[in-house]
Amino acid sequence: MVMPRIDLTNKPIAIAGASSGIGAATARACARAGMPVALGARRTDRLQALAAEIQASGGRAIAIECDVTDPDACRRLIDKTERAFGPLFAAFANAGYGYEGSVLTDDEDQALRDIFETNVWGSLHIVRPAIERLRAHNSGGHVLMCSSCLSKLGVPYYGPYCATKAAQDHLGRALRAELASEKIAVSTVHPIGTKTEFFDTAATRSSSGKLAFPTPDAVRQPPEKVARAIVRRLRHPRGGEVWTSLGARTMFAMANAMPGMTDRVLRTAVRKGLKKAER
Ligand SMILES: NC(=O)c1ccc[n+]([C@@H]2O[C@H](COP(=O)([O-])OP(=O)(O)OC[C@H]3O[C@@H](n4cnc5c(N)ncnc54)[C@H](OP(=O)(O)O)[C@@H]3O)[C@@H](O)[C@H]2O)c1
Repeated sequence: MVMPRIDLTNKPIAIAGASSGIGAATARACARAGMPVALGARRTDRLQALAAEIQASGGRAIAIECDVTDPDACRRLIDKTERAFGPLFAAFANAGYGYEGSVLTDDEDQALRDIFETNVWGSLHIVRPAIERLRAHNSGGHVLMCSSCLSKLGVPYYGPYCATKAAQDHLGRALRAELASEKIAVSTVHPIGTKTEFFDTAATRSSSGKLAFPTPDAVRQPPEKVARAIVRRLRHPRGGEVWTSLGARTMFAMANAMPGMTDRVLRTAVRKGLKKAER
């Protein structure tokens, strides 16, 4: 059966992590589709500039300071979205970051707790109040979390980051089934390397101050590609996972189907990466 396409006009969305990269590109794409957008993040100057840009091109947008590690701030983001634009239609928990670091180093403990606080708890702080609102309206809606292609594979020196992305993936999958009878769609987004500030932030947060294993610039996709896929999913809420690369999706599925070979490939990558980093 072909599902009718949802008209997104005047359907409000709250986006956490909208001040740059994938979140900002998604806000622009949603606004172009007619959605009023509530922009949340810590850098309010960026949010205000983006809200002004969207308003100047005929869209509706508001900027709201929101640190996703603060559950009250996340609830305020959802409340203010409804106060400004009416009943919530969607929320996108996109705020997150990565860093390079081993799982085992003692002094990484705080870094490990921090990344779970933002990427995993931060997502829950957004989707929980959003789902509460959607349930109260009883007319469907959509929550999305920005996971990663790396949710499917723990890769060396990105173990903590991959674990947070896997947690989002698993939480999203479970929620999807739990909420299906209420017609609330739950999607996880699985970008491959994307041209955003992600890699600069990751370098700053990594103990050496630079990345030994960055995704090569040449293979990074533009954030607009992810944004377009998200808008398509909002219009056609089926499928659960949002991917922009069939090749990557297949490769990660095969990597999980052949764990022995995958471990050998990862061991070689570590050897090569460490040698390069020594030079
Ligand atoms: N770029 C990639 O290659 C890639 C690949 C796969 C998945 N992803 C995922 O995509 C998502 C977006 O990242 P991006 O690539 O667009 O990087 P980005 O340009 O660095 O954007 C990260 C966003 O998260 C926000 N953020 C971080 N910590 C926050 C906090 N505590 N509270 C509120 N907002 C916070 C930042 O806003 P403020 O700093 O202003 O608060 C910013 O808006 C992340 O979840 C990331 O894991 C990225």
